[in-house]
Amino acid sequence: MIAEGRMMVNKAEVDGVALARGDRAMRLLAAVNRDPAEFGAPEEFRIDRARNQHLTFGAKIQRCVGVPLARLEMRATLEEVLRRTPKIRVEYLEAMRLKFATTHSTLTSVPATWA
Ligand code: HEM
Repeated sequence: MIAEGRMMVNKAEVDGVALARGDRAMRLLAAVNRDPAEFGAPEEFRIDRARNQHLTFGAKIQRCVGVPLARLEMRATLEEVLRRTPKIRVEYLEAMRLKFATTHSTLTSVPATWA
């Protein structure tokens, strides 16, 4: 998911832009999660970031209630892939293909080899 729509319930100012009650705004997660003020080397995939305040699951009152299940499913999937193909190796991060869309992007190709 890379963007979420919002309707303003209160007026606010964001980076000098005045937003009135009822205005529509879009939060670009793809940008927020790569904020260089928040993440060191934001373009690099680092699974072990010590501080990782990403907004992929939203925040505060609108935080995703499915986080534990989503994490469990992802862990089970990755563990099964690694169990079946222990020597899997993603060859070239640059060769991955991403299909962009307004709200969701999808990996369409992840070149890999395994023994
Ligand atoms: C990788 C997987 C997932 C991602 C990235 C994700 C992301 C999000 C995000 C960003 C929100 C907040 C939307 C907003 O601010 O308006 C949200 C809300 C929500 N998610 Fe997820 N989600 C995932 C998986 C799941 C799963 C597995 C479930 C349930 C089985 C789930 C159920 C919900 C529900 C019910 C809400 C609304 C919570 C509320 O409004 O209080 N999500 N999710």
